[in-house]
Amino acid sequence: MGARHQLLPLAALLLLLLLLAAAAGASGGVTSGYRRKAEATADMPLDADVFRVPPGYNAPQQVHITLGDQTGAAMTVSWVTASEPGSDTVAYGRSPGKMDLSARGTHARYDYYNYTSGFIHHCTLANLKHGVKYWYAMGFGHTVRTFWFTTPPKPGPDVPFKFGLIGDLGQTFDSNSTLSHYEANGGSAVLFVGDLSYADSYPLHDNNRWDTWARFVERSVAYQPWLWTAGNHELDYAPEIGETTPFKPFTRRYPTPFRASGSTEPLWYSVKIASAHVVVLSSYSAYGQYTPQWAWLDEELRLRVDRRATPWLVVLIHSPWYNSNGYHYMEGESMRVQFERWLVDARVDLVLAGHVHSYERSRRVSNVVYDIVNGKATPVRDLDAPMYVNIGDGGNIEGIADNFTRPQPRYSAFREASFGHATLEIKNRTHAYYEWHRNHDGAKVVADSVWLTNRYWMPTQDDSN
Ligand SMILES: *[C@@H]1O[C@H](CO)[C@@H](O)[C@H](O)[C@H]1NC(C)=O
Ligand SMILES: *[C@@H]1O[C@H](CO)[C@@H](O)[C@H](O)[C@H]1NC(C)=O
Ligand SMILES: *[C@@H]1O[C@H](CO)[C@@H](O)[C@H](O)[C@H]1NC(C)=O
Ligand SMILES: *[C@@H]1O[C@H](CO)[C@@H](O)[C@H](O)[C@H]1NC(C)=O
Ligand SMILES: [Fe+2]
Repeated sequence: MGARHQLLPLAALLLLLLLLAAAAGASGGVTSGYRRKAEATADMPLDADVFRVPPGYNAPQQVHITLGDQTGAAMTVSWVTASEPGSDTVAYGRSPGKMDLSARGTHARYDYYNYTSGFIHHCTLANLKHGVKYWYAMGFGHTVRTFWFTTPPKPGPDVPFKFGLIGDLGQTFDSNSTLSHYEANGGSAVLFVGDLSYADSYPLHDNNRWDTWARFVERSVAYQPWLWTAGNHELDYAPEIGETTPFKPFTRRYPTPFRASGSTEPLWYSVKIASAHVVVLSSYSAYGQYTPQWAWLDEELRLRVDRRATPWLVVLIHSPWYNSNGYHYMEGESMRVQFERWLVDARVDLVLAGHVHSYERSRRVSNVVYDIVNGKATPVRDLDAPMYVNIGDGGNIEGIADNFTRPQPRYSAFREASFGHATLEIKNRTHAYYEWHRNHDGAKVVADSVWLTNRYWMPTQDDSN
C-alpha cells in the first residue's frame, strides 16, 4: 500500500484528493451565530392569564380538536368539565345561529397517583364537508361555549395547504411566544412532533400541569386540528409511585384517528390532508421486526401511500435520526437503522422530529448501504432521501440545547440553538415552501427557509442546500 502511494506523481495525488472532496460534497453547512438573550426559561405561573379557567359553572375547558378520520371529514372534539360530567353532546352547524346538527360523545376520568382528572369528554363529528367552516358548541345544561373550525380541503394532488410545525412546547413564557408567533403566521393545522405539557417535570408528574397546558393552547387547538406525536414526556411511566401504564394521561386526553389508517394503536397512524400524506410514528413503542408498529408501517408505505393522489409524504417522529447536537445524541439511532431504508425507498419528502431543544435542518442524505460485513457506514448525499428537520425548539422548561458537535457534519445544512417554530406551505404537487421562524427577543424572524421539490414528481432536483 505505502509503496504504491509513493509511486503516484504528486499532481495525480492532488487531483485525486480534489475529486474525493468534490464527491463527498465538502461544502459545510451553516451554524447560525445568533445568540438569544440568556434569560432563564421559566414556566408561566399558575395564575397566568393563559391558564385561566373559563367562567361559568362546570364550563367546558381545555377544548381541542383533531382529525376524527383520515382526511378531516370527521373531527374529534375533546374538552374537560371540572365539577360534574355534564352533557356529552356537541351541537354544530354552518353558522353560529344554526348549529342544528349534534353528536353525542363519551366521558371518563383517570387517576394518577393522588391526582384525579376532571371529566374528559371526546365526541366525533362525522360526515362533514371538506373545506367548510363549522361552528360548534358544548356544555349544555350549564355553561355553553362556542368555537369554530374549518375542515381541511379534500385531499388531491394540487391542493395548497399551510401547516404549522411545532415540537417540545411546554408552558413557559417562551412557549407562549412560540404559540403567538405561529398564530401570527396563520397555518391551518399543526403537525406536533411530541412533548406537550412537561407535567412530568413536576413532583409526582403533577397532572394539574396537563390541565394548565391544555388551557394554554386552547386558543389555537380549539379552532384548528393539531396532529399529535408521542414524545418521551408523554410516557409518564413512574413505577416508583405505582404508575406503570405508559402514556396514560396522554392517551386519555389526546385521541388520534388511528383506526382510520388501519393502525391498532393510537401512537402510530396516518392522515391525508390536502396534498400531504402524513405518517406519525412512535419513538417510544416497539418498532423491531414483526412488532405491530413495524408491520403497520410496512403496509402503510407499500400499500396505502399514493403519491399521485397525495404527493407530499411527511413522517413525524419524536427522537431525531439525524442530529448533530450533544443533547440526546444518537438516541434515535436504533429506529433509524430499522426504518431508514424504507423511507428512502418510499422517497419520503420530509421527516420532522423534536426532542432536541434547538433547530436543525439536514441535506438529503441517507446511510443505508451498511451491512454487517461491508464496513460502509457514512451518510451520503442521496436525492431519494428525506430532508430531516429537528423542530424541538418550542420553548419548554428544560431550556435550549446549545451543544452542537464541531465541526458541523456535512449532512447538516443549518442549525441554530434558539426557540421557534416552522411552517410548511404546500403549493402544488411539485413545490412546497418551508420556513423556520426563530423567537428573536420576543419577535419572530425567518432564520431559515427552503423551497422543497417533491421527491415523487421532481426526484432529480436537489433542493436541500
Ligand atoms: C401569552 O401570549 C398572549 C398572546 O400574545 C398574551 O395575551 C398573554 O398575555 C401572554 N401571557 C403570558 C403569561 O405571557
Ligand atoms: C398528593 O401528594 C403530594 C405529596 O404527598 C401532596 O403534596 C399533594 O397535596 C397531594 N395532592 C392531593 C390532590 O392530594
Ligand atoms: C456536549 O456534547 C458532547 C458530545 O458531543 C458531550 O460529550 C458533552 O458532555 C456535552 N456537554 C454538555 C455540557 O452537555
Ligand atoms: C407549482 O408552484 C410553484 C411555486 O409556486 C410554481 O413555480 C410552479 O409553476 C407551480 N407548478 C404548476 C404546475 O403550477
Ligand atoms: Fe423529548
